[in-house]
Amino acid sequence: MNSQIDVFVHRDVVEFADGVYWIGALDPTLRTFDIILSTANGTTYNAYLVKGSDGVAVIDTVKKNFSDEFFARLESEVDYSDIKAIVLNHLEPDHTGALPELMRRAPQAKLYISRRATSMLKALLKPTTGAFEYTTVNTGDTVELGDRTLRFLHTPFLHWPDTQRTYLEEEAVLFSGDVFGCHYCDKRLFNGQVGDFRFSFDYYYAHIMRPFKKHVMDALKLIEPLRLKLIAPTHGPILRERPRRYVSHYRELSTSSLATEIGNSDQSMIIFYMSSYGNTARMAEEIAEGAGDLDGVRVSIWGETEPFVDLIEEADALLFGFPTINGDAVKPVGDLLSSLAVVNLKGKLGGAFGSYGWSGEAVRMIEDRMRGLKMHIPREGLRVKLIPTEEELEACRSFGLQIAEVLTGKSSEKRGIDFADLM
Ligand code: FEO
Repeated sequence: MNSQIDVFVHRDVVEFADGVYWIGALDPTLRTFDIILSTANGTTYNAYLVKGSDGVAVIDTVKKNFSDEFFARLESEVDYSDIKAIVLNHLEPDHTGALPELMRRAPQAKLYISRRATSMLKALLKPTTGAFEYTTVNTGDTVELGDRTLRFLHTPFLHWPDTQRTYLEEEAVLFSGDVFGCHYCDKRLFNGQVGDFRFSFDYYYAHIMRPFKKHVMDALKLIEPLRLKLIAPTHGPILRERPRRYVSHYRELSTSSLATEIGNSDQSMIIFYMSSYGNTARMAEEIAEGAGDLDGVRVSIWGETEPFVDLIEEADALLFGFPTINGDAVKPVGDLLSSLAVVNLKGKLGGAFGSYGWSGEAVRMIEDRMRGLKMHIPREGLRVKLIPTEEELEACRSFGLQIAEVLTGKSSEKRGIDFADLM
């Protein structure tokens, strides 16, 4: 490690509330996290220590290759024999890399995990650890450390099934795991002292939490009533200045604005298309007309494939119309469909259509991708060879109307069962 980075990384243990310490690690040179996330500012793996009159708790650990500094910080404050509890808010390896060694050094410490974390814990520890014990906890369960009480909040799927939060009652500190975190490394550690990390905060939300908005809202119901002096996430700055601002920002980010725009009674259908010679465009227009004939459906039509992720996320039905070129869907389609990985489309209605010259594979490909995203495809995709006839345009209108009827519950047909529904 060169001296410049060494200076940057150096950070002593810091006590930021009475008996509460940061013992994590800084990773300023990381440039990609989990293969897909850009981390231009590096990241931190925040782990914490809580000292009570009757024992110590370690809350989360660090990525494995940062274990040495984690243990050095831990040892500077407590003996391993003092550790009564190890709390794991989330079992992803960036927070459990040092766990097997910590368990070896503090064998008397009890592990506390959420009830959904059991299988992951076993899978995580099986190569390195023999038999071990753990306790699963739920909302309201507590661990007593004498004059300190840790209380758990069961908040799954943020962003793994196993996730929970831990609240230190006496100091009003929320150990929030990845929630309210971001990949932003600054050894000054606290939000009132580090640089401008707003972009990193929103970027992290958009890529990690956004697909789980419903679960964010469920978690906020448990978090918002808490007295909050500090939020201590597992990545990025500790939120000491105005912590409640980040809670309300999460609520804003997770709230749909479409309902306030078109009302709760209307359903939104969006049609995206691309067209080489105007034939797929013609189909899109007729489908939109057919769907728009039904009251209670608000149809939008876009002849672009820019990743309108916000629109897509809030729509109730998504129809994609693309031509087939050389037996494949055109590249912008792939770009659009891959951009949808950051939103939750499960249960939305989907449909595909397109004009083709001789083979027409694009429609099936788009349907397969939508099923992969757990969307429901109520009608088989519509394909037209080259220029649509009047009869085929009528079929387009009918296609749009039928999907709109399913969308509004006016269809007399039962919804078919998609494989995606069973997953
Ligand atoms: Fe920071 Fe989901 O681990």
